[in-house]
Amino acid sequence: MLNWGVMGAGGIAYVFCNGMRFTDSGQILAVASRTQSRIDRLANDYNIPRQYSDYDSLLTDDDIDAVYIATIHPLHEEWAIKCAEAGKHLLIEKPISMNHAEAAAMVEAARENDVFLMEAFMYRCHPQIAKVVELIQDGTIGEVLVIRSTFSYRSNFNPQSRIFNREMGGGGILDIGCYTASMTRKIAGAAANELFLNPIEVKGNGKVGPTGVDHIAAATLKFENGIIGEIIAAVECSVGSSVFIYGSEGSITIPSPWLPSSPCRHAREPLPLDTVFPSTKIIVESQQNRQEITVDVDRDLFTYEADTVANHIADRQAPAMSWDDTLGNMQLLDAWLAEVGVVHLVT
Ligand SMILES: NC(=O)c1ccc[n+]([C@@H]2O[C@H](COP(=O)([O-])OP(=O)(O)OC[C@H]3O[C@@H](n4cnc5c(N)ncnc54)[C@H](OP(=O)(O)O)[C@@H]3O)[C@@H](O)[C@H]2O)c1
Repeated sequence: MLNWGVMGAGGIAYVFCNGMRFTDSGQILAVASRTQSRIDRLANDYNIPRQYSDYDSLLTDDDIDAVYIATIHPLHEEWAIKCAEAGKHLLIEKPISMNHAEAAAMVEAARENDVFLMEAFMYRCHPQIAKVVELIQDGTIGEVLVIRSTFSYRSNFNPQSRIFNREMGGGGILDIGCYTASMTRKIAGAAANELFLNPIEVKGNGKVGPTGVDHIAAATLKFENGIIGEIIAAVECSVGSSVFIYGSEGSITIPSPWLPSSPCRHAREPLPLDTVFPSTKIIVESQQNRQEITVDVDRDLFTYEADTVANHIADRQAPAMSWDDTLGNMQLLDAWLAEVGVVHLVT
């Protein structure tokens, strides 16, 4: 059983701790946060025995095997490298870093210090994605031609929030565009019998707001196998959140690509241990047929993520989101941000 330390006690840390209650692959041993009220809430709700008011204390706690970095993204690189140097395995919230260069340094630190590292794309750990890959590789929709991937929500403009504040790594491309980029690369890869593919061309456009970060952004991608991808990320308005894959003989729709089967994501308190986790659906249409495929689950989305770490820790990376996959994704985000004209301040 892995002993986890949680670094940063914000919104997603609460969700992850809830998910950890539904597995015996690990337990939350410690939480580190700069904010006492957050420590209190997390520690009380999840009976976390060790509480630290600074992140450094997690590094020196010899009983911690793995650290879940759940801070705002500009802090990911610094703390991931410190954790790796302290011999801690790593699960790091998405986006893993502010850019490709930072991600490369983090991967190098994991390699040099022989620790596990995975970017926390929880949707990649859910059985839904394995089913989609299987459908594509079985030729269910023929040759894959176009992938359209969207993640969006409406957030009221607040220059102090991590969504809009440039110093805090704001903007939709980093916050949610990373999902659309990683999904499109995953599907294009599945069509080529690879774990992922990187695009050979990226063209983008977007709306940049007064704080210098993107509110709405779109990009078109071209892959070496001819697939065209369209990715959209918006934090100013909702334009849907779904994935469509069009092939020569049909299409696949993923109505709930990012947060399937996750009561933990919306819970404001620890969920009962007899919680039933909802299945999710994939729609396949070809010729005159329309088929709804149900993907059943036995855990929360975030439990699958924690279990993925535990199952692959000895390999130091997981096929759900390998090091090269993460590096390719960050390269795409760099290109997309440059096309839209967003320059992030990175120290
Ligand atoms: N996988 C998912 O579904 C998902 C969902 C949401 C967010 N995320 C990712 O998780 C990370 C955290 O997002 P969140 O929504 O949890 O954010 P949040 O609720 O605003 O929490 C931000 C966290 O960052 C820490 N932090 C450190 N320095 C900070 C600073 N100068 N200003 C503000 N916060 C600071 C805070 O730590 P203290 O506790 O020490 O105060 C807090 O725990 C982001 O990288 C985000 O992209 C992932």
